[in-house]
Amino acid sequence: MTRLAMDGPGGPPKDLPDVTARPWRTLADLIGDGDVVVLSGAGLSTESGIPDYRGETGRSRRATPMTYQAFTGSAAARRRYWARSHLGWRHVARAAPNAGHRAVAELQRRGLVAGIITQNVDGLHQAAGAGGVIELHGNLDRVRCLDCGRRSPRADLDERLHDANPGWHAHTETINPDGDAPLPDDRVEGFRVVGCRDCGGILKPDVVFFGENVPRRRVEECFALTGRAGTLLVLGSSLAVMSGYRFVRHAAGLSVPVAIINRGPTRGDADALVTLDAPLGTALTALVDGLAGHP
Ligand SMILES: NC(=O)c1ccc[n+]([C@@H]2O[C@H](COP(=O)([O-])OP(=O)(O)OC[C@H]3O[C@@H](n4cnc5c(N)ncnc54)[C@H](O)[C@@H]3O)[C@@H](O)[C@H]2O)c1
Ligand SMILES: [Zn+2]
Repeated sequence: MTRLAMDGPGGPPKDLPDVTARPWRTLADLIGDGDVVVLSGAGLSTESGIPDYRGETGRSRRATPMTYQAFTGSAAARRRYWARSHLGWRHVARAAPNAGHRAVAELQRRGLVAGIITQNVDGLHQAAGAGGVIELHGNLDRVRCLDCGRRSPRADLDERLHDANPGWHAHTETINPDGDAPLPDDRVEGFRVVGCRDCGGILKPDVVFFGENVPRRRVEECFALTGRAGTLLVLGSSLAVMSGYRFVRHAAGLSVPVAIINRGPTRGDADALVTLDAPLGTALTALVDGLAGHP
């Protein structure tokens, strides 16, 4: 395993490693062969200031993620979610892509990428210029009505929540991985939630909560993509969630090489041809630079 110093959030990667040494060489060869399908997770966005669940920045032991059942089952749970999210979303919306997102977009621009599947809900791949990204778990910048199904921009809801809560102020320095922020109960109780503009129905962020299934067609598309990949490249995911791990199993079962870049172990390590324990901004920048001679 290769260990490198972490570079600062969003800052330029320093001290690029020697990519001619193994396992960098193996990784560079796999990527250089093309048809790479990227499967990214929360670890790709920690260098943009968004915490992950299970890595060093994870707050999993302090914050319980919202479940679909809790959200749909209780108005109080929805008020709590929207109050905390009204505060935390701002932070996610302001986050900028980092060197890792930019490197993935660059590999795509060079024609080496057959697809990008992300478990992240922050839109940072696209913000870095990547296209055709499959958002496995949706995106926080959209909202969906559970009654009429209409989707609308989160920015619109943000404005409506702001108008519905004059004088409601809160401030936070920390956010949880879901894009919500810790908030005392009395601030939650004073918060007014709004319904769908068209039908008055219940609004939910257009993300897949725990306890909810990823839409079937989206899953099938990802199985097809990973099944015909040249390499499945996992970036910054513990693969603890089956939702992403199943594509690693699928690829390995079809003898598609699996490569993993992640700080710390992942559930997919035994399925991988090559694993690299390194910070993603530095690692991906080094790999892209090392491939510079590639057409
Ligand atoms: N940014 C987001 O949109 C976001 C953030 C948190 C959670 N989530 C959701 O929660 C679930 C979490 O599962 P997951 O596997 O994606 O995340 P995870 O938290 O389980 O695993 C992240 C992994 O990335 C590693 N890591 C962290 N920073 C890294 C870096 N700079 N370089 C290399 N590795 C790094 C960690 O050590 C950890 O092993 C996903 O389903 C996702 O939908 C999304
Ligand atoms: Zn509606």
